[in-house]
Amino acid sequence: MADDVTTESAAPATVAVTIDGTTFDAKPGELVIAAAERAGVYIPRFCWHPRMSSVGMCRMCLVEVDTGRGPALQPSCMIEVADGMVVETASDKARQAQDGVLEFLLVNHPLDCPVCDKGGECPLQDQTVAFGPGESRMVEEKRHFEKPIAISELVALDRERCILCDRCTRFASEVAGDPLITFIGRGNTTQVNTFPDDPFSSYFSGNTVQICPVGALTATPYRFKARPWDLEQVESTCTTCSVGCRIAVQSSSDRVVRHLGVDVDPVNWGWLCDKGRFGFEATNSDDRLTSPLVAGPAGAGLVETSWSVALDRAVEGLTAEGGSVAVIGGARLTNEDAYAWSKLARVALGTDSVDAQLGDGLPAPFVLGLPRATIDEACEADVLVLLAPDLKEELPVLHLRLRDAITNHGLQVIELATTDTSMTSLAAVSLRYRPGDAASAVRTLLDASAESDPSWAQARQLLSGGSVVCVLGRPSLAEAADSVVAAADLLLTELSAVTFLPALRRGNVLGALELGLAPGMLPGRVTLDDGRDWFTRAWGELPAVPGLDTAGILAAAADGRIQGLVLLGSDPLADFPDRELARRAIEGAGFVVAVDCFLNDSSRQADVVLPAATSGEKDGTTTNIEGRISRVQQKVTPPGTARADWIIAVELADRLGIDLGFDSLGAIWAEIERLAPSFSGVTRARLSGPEALAGILPDPIGPPADRPGPLRHHPVPHQVSVPPVDAYALRLVSGRRLYDAGVGVARAPHLAGLAPGAPLLVNPYDLDRLGVADGETVRVTSRTARLDAVAAADVGVPRGVAVMAFNQPGPGAAELIDIADPVTDVLVETR
Ligand code: SF4
Ligand code: SF4
Ligand code: FES
Repeated sequence: MADDVTTESAAPATVAVTIDGTTFDAKPGELVIAAAERAGVYIPRFCWHPRMSSVGMCRMCLVEVDTGRGPALQPSCMIEVADGMVVETASDKARQAQDGVLEFLLVNHPLDCPVCDKGGECPLQDQTVAFGPGESRMVEEKRHFEKPIAISELVALDRERCILCDRCTRFASEVAGDPLITFIGRGNTTQVNTFPDDPFSSYFSGNTVQICPVGALTATPYRFKARPWDLEQVESTCTTCSVGCRIAVQSSSDRVVRHLGVDVDPVNWGWLCDKGRFGFEATNSDDRLTSPLVAGPAGAGLVETSWSVALDRAVEGLTAEGGSVAVIGGARLTNEDAYAWSKLARVALGTDSVDAQLGDGLPAPFVLGLPRATIDEACEADVLVLLAPDLKEELPVLHLRLRDAITNHGLQVIELATTDTSMTSLAAVSLRYRPGDAASAVRTLLDASAESDPSWAQARQLLSGGSVVCVLGRPSLAEAADSVVAAADLLLTELSAVTFLPALRRGNVLGALELGLAPGMLPGRVTLDDGRDWFTRAWGELPAVPGLDTAGILAAAADGRIQGLVLLGSDPLADFPDRELARRAIEGAGFVVAVDCFLNDSSRQADVVLPAATSGEKDGTTTNIEGRISRVQQKVTPPGTARADWIIAVELADRLGIDLGFDSLGAIWAEIERLAPSFSGVTRARLSGPEALAGILPDPIGPPADRPGPLRHHPVPHQVSVPPVDAYALRLVSGRRLYDAGVGVARAPHLAGLAPGAPLLVNPYDLDRLGVADGETVRVTSRTARLDAVAAADVGVPRGVAVMAFNQPGPGAAELIDIADPVTDVLVETR
């Protein structure tokens, strides 16, 4: 025999399995229950869930399996396929076993289907009809518990309905990493419950309601609101943040009553965060704007008017002599809305001062020019560098995807952070840097000769081999974006193959930037200069020079240099990091037009307010953090006369004497596909086809040669100057929490109470040094402002740092931050 002949045979690519008489190819390692489903045979189940580990708890999936030693009853969710395996899912024995399991489950199940939210869509009902006994032999008293009990603001538990399938408990511990719901007791007294005094306060609790196979867990916002046969449904995309989870939007009597997660492989795997799941309550709020408002005579405030009066007044104000026009906002919009507003701003309002970010993101040409990674690529990378805000707070389902990659697939994460985050305990290495010093931290990380402690050396070692993806965002609004940009430039310079997943959080912020709602950027990732000829031929004359970003617009407005300010679904007083500048800007702008769904602190001061439709109320597309384009669909009618933002843009343009050329969404998309280089090839037909169900990633090869672009960011290593630390001061970190004072939370009755407030978190050592007790109210003074806050000891906050959540109810971090400063130092004193 020749030496090079090996006796080992390669693992087979498929194995032949016979299920209910039909032989087909299954994948090695596949579970029988999953293989059968692919082959079109449904095996009943309660505990098995394709996105969680198998536990074999319920035995509902018993089938007869013969691997050559004769048939035996086996739980098909615990057995992997094998070559030659023969499976009978509906033999007499299998049927008898399934029937028996159901009879046992119904011994204690209360059968209160007429008053159970799950009635009509309940796997226990359905499987009892399909596989169960026709009648019960049990006459004994059933188990009783107090019912229902509220285990959180959002979830109610009816323990006697529980069939102990372990889905909710597995989800909470395996998927969410919040093991707050568990089994208690033994034998017949086993019950599912939370720990005493510890509510089910997970950001992902709604998923347990969706996967509970009975009505044991119900969602408080949905309880008794509708029955499955009342519901109508469309598939859409959540735009509460920029992960872009797929959802089913369900309505009854023309009101959205429920969002359910839809399982798409590249994005959310069926999971949603509770803000995305329950935020629809805000869209049903009685506070929604239903008709246009204009400023009345002095002191009269805003008064209702007709669309034609409001639009005329808006045009009159925006075209008055005395200054330029600027547009802030746009991340709430669909891609089509954003394109229409981008065109309106350039060709009808004559301005390039448009910005969908509110001074809380990263420069648009930088973000759009970075080599991009997908969520899957981030999860499959050898090493992930995390230089971003706390993902669980800002992009929750991305946190779930990365958590799965870390805990189940060995993803190694190097976290660079100023304080502990939700990712700290999961990261292979979590490194601390002082606010403002992100670039220095990356320099140390990449410099093999740098003196550093073992954890930096370990991180450096990890970076030395394999693929690297960086999740990049703005970790704190109390420090300028420069240090993050400089840090990314260093990574790009030293690790040429690194790719980036942007961690910008607002719903369609990437779509808005990509469609030109950014100064100096035109639709399709081209700069104003590069795209000038191409777009001038199609649109007409463009602004001569790049405009201002939000910080520049607000500074100009505060100085009286902005005559017309459009707030396009934005509230600078709440969202811009420097509240004092936002305040002066709104007062200083000559004329303010707000296009929004609610009145907010900023739009209350507007001269004209135009009511807009929001998610669930309009069709279109949205773009997620990967650049994936997904459809959003209308399910209900917008309230009053509210309308889609693209229609408002067309009507404004019309009054300005410009025909934008759009009479439908199809017309807008056709123009986007034709003109915006990065969207070429993403046709309306593709967006309406099956490929669009998981979203479409534009062609990475780039646009045809006759079009400008695509934009590439070229790293320019540069130093960031940060003032030295004052020994008496603490350096502020301010990031967002999932629940805040924004309208999406504040107007959703079941979410409104969940905003945690903004205590000042300080290391216990610093509190001690300052002579402040844990829980004491202190005076916090920055260079520009002073406020009172409750100090709280937190060992996760490094010494010399103070953490305060952004945009919580009441005065907060935005009062302390001056946007012109690279970092924000605060003095903390007893009152
Ligand atoms: Fe299963 Fe529902 Fe009981 Fe949780 S509450 S164990 S999901 S039946
Ligand atoms: Fe919506 Fe974002 Fe939550 Fe997904 S992670 S459900 S996109 S808010
Ligand atoms: Fe297999 Fe529960 S589904 S044991």
